Amino acid sequence: MNNISYDLIETDLQCEAFENLLNCSFPVKKNTSFFDDFPIWKGNHHFPLFKVGAFDKGQLVSCAAIVLRELKIGYSRVKVAVIGAVATDSNYRGQGLASHCVQFLQKYADDHQVGVIFLWGSEHGMYNKLGFDLCGLQFRVPLNKALNPEKSYIKDENWNDQIIELMKSRKSGFEIGIGNEQWLQSHKNVNWWVAKKEETVCGFIAFDRGIDLQNIVHEWGGDPDAIAFLLNELSQIRLESQIIGNREELESLQISLSQGIEEYICMAQVLDPGPLVSAISKGEKKIEIQKQGDQWIFKLADQELRIDPFHLSQIIFGPTSYKELKDTPLPFSLWAWGLDAG
Ligand SMILES: CC(C)(COP(=O)(O)OP(=O)(O)OC[C@H]1O[C@@H](n2cnc3c(N)ncnc32)[C@H](O)[C@@H]1OP(=O)(O)O)[C@@H](O)C(=O)NCCC(=O)NCCS
Repeated sequence: MNNISYDLIETDLQCEAFENLLNCSFPVKKNTSFFDDFPIWKGNHHFPLFKVGAFDKGQLVSCAAIVLRELKIGYSRVKVAVIGAVATDSNYRGQGLASHCVQFLQKYADDHQVGVIFLWGSEHGMYNKLGFDLCGLQFRVPLNKALNPEKSYIKDENWNDQIIELMKSRKSGFEIGIGNEQWLQSHKNVNWWVAKKEETVCGFIAFDRGIDLQNIVHEWGGDPDAIAFLLNELSQIRLESQIIGNREELESLQISLSQGIEEYICMAQVLDPGPLVSAISKGEKKIEIQKQGDQWIFKLADQELRIDPFHLSQIIFGPTSYKELKDTPLPFSLWAWGLDAG
């Protein structure tokens, strides 16, 4: 333990060790790579990426990474981050190495004025101790009920560059920007289907990813009729397929949530509620926010709410609704598309 040092993962050799550690720590099949499913952690996709590792005499034994992104909230954009690629060599687990790496990234996010850090991990206890809480609400709904699409299209089972424009026009989620095409296309195990009228793509869906999201539609966009057409086609080929989304997104596709399973979207740590709440409550009564000691004060018209930082993610993204906030737009209905979940 005394020999452990922490450093950035930068050189080609360190990056190779990073990939190997991830391949050994996750259920990655032989001759494939963790980056086939999670290319965001490989880098070169126009998202600022920062990777940190714990080294024992130069050997990488634990790692974690963070990307900076933007979350769309109405017409505002809030700077957010996603942590992922967290792994520790099996001989070094239980010594606090992964926690230490994540703490470096939390400091990095704070230094970069990030409003909130998101992560998708099953080690809830470990992340709770680091200040992350489960939040948001999504539904996982089987596609086995006939969707009765009203229109017919030409189906193409391939990536099409027009998908990007449809993704950019989605009203919620993380911003898709210049240079992200290559990132989207480098998900080797994702299936993209488009619905076309002549050469125009009217709608698309994406399903599968590899280690996770198998048989799950996790990205879609375009005309709801075209999406319904594709979902219907998929449900006939893959009887076990499902779709995940938040209430608003699924209801806009006329998908009934009655057969759906409710689950948290992710874990999050809110570092600064100010920009988030100001974007969410734009056009409504202003909620003034101040920090006092270790607590955040939400000043409402007739009262003040003192909030422990750990509870900010549920206050802002739900699913719990606080009675004191019933006249405000909180909680905000968060949605992160499948490929955003690093
Ligand atoms: C999860 C993982 C990264 C933890 O690494 P680590 O260096 O052992 O983690 P730490 O020593 O910092 O653990 C901190 C705490 O979390 C707990 N913890 C670690 N792994 C856990 C797990 N899989 N489930 C629940 N709790 C876990 C530890 O017991 C420890 O608690 P303690 O402080 O009460 O002792 C490591 O087990 C791993 O590489 N797993 C496989 C890859 C993976 O699933 N990564 C997470 C994806 S985001």
